Amino acid sequence: MIPVIAIDGPAASGKGTLARRIAAHYGLRHLDTGLTYRAVAHALVAAGKPLDDDAEAVAVAARLDLSAMDRAVLAAHTVGEAASKVAVMPAVRRALVERQRQFAETPPGAVLDGRDIGTVVFPEATAKLYVTASPEVRAKRRYHEILAGGGEADEAVILADIERRDARDMGRADSPLRPAEDAHLLDTSDMTIETAFQAARATIDRALERH
Ligand code: C5P
Repeated sequence: MIPVIAIDGPAASGKGTLARRIAAHYGLRHLDTGLTYRAVAHALVAAGKPLDDDAEAVAVAARLDLSAMDRAVLAAHTVGEAASKVAVMPAVRRALVERQRQFAETPPGAVLDGRDIGTVVFPEATAKLYVTASPEVRAKRRYHEILAGGGEADEAVILADIERRDARDMGRADSPLRPAEDAHLLDTSDMTIETAFQAARATIDRALERH
């Protein structure tokens, strides 16, 4: 079986940066599965369709080109909010999970980051990490990211958004955000990206030896 590394965690936990580093280090393909939900939400809005139109959302999911998702467009805060609404619909999840599995099963293997990779998409993943940080630390990181990009933001508003998105992602009936029982927990609140990467690497190296 080819290696699949599952990285889950809440918004702004640092899982995306970590996933990209891990994929580069091990020579694996990388898929940010959050982008797949964002792309579906963005397409619905662009077509003037309501976010709970699950037939249209499933059709968009089925024809989505995973290699052409535009991170710059999909990164918008409003798209993230819309994505978490689209992501509560089981039919949409089924369609996107199928696409995500196909991506990961293509050699040489992949790193997938999201909310349900270790619990639903790949319960048999080679290694599973659950990356967290306190809501306050996540809000601060996001705030500094926006300032560094030349934007303006209010840290208290970002914190409220993060807490609302956590509640929606953890509270939904289908595939709620939670650590898999066999996931390695990585709390990055007091870690630099380098420290987090070294900790992740130690876990993944051990898992690959057993693989
Ligand atoms: O990670 P990102 O912020 O891009 O994800 C956007 C939204 O997509 C999340 O808030 C969540 O509702 C949804 N999502 C999901 N399952 C995944 C990845 C993302 O439900 N595997």
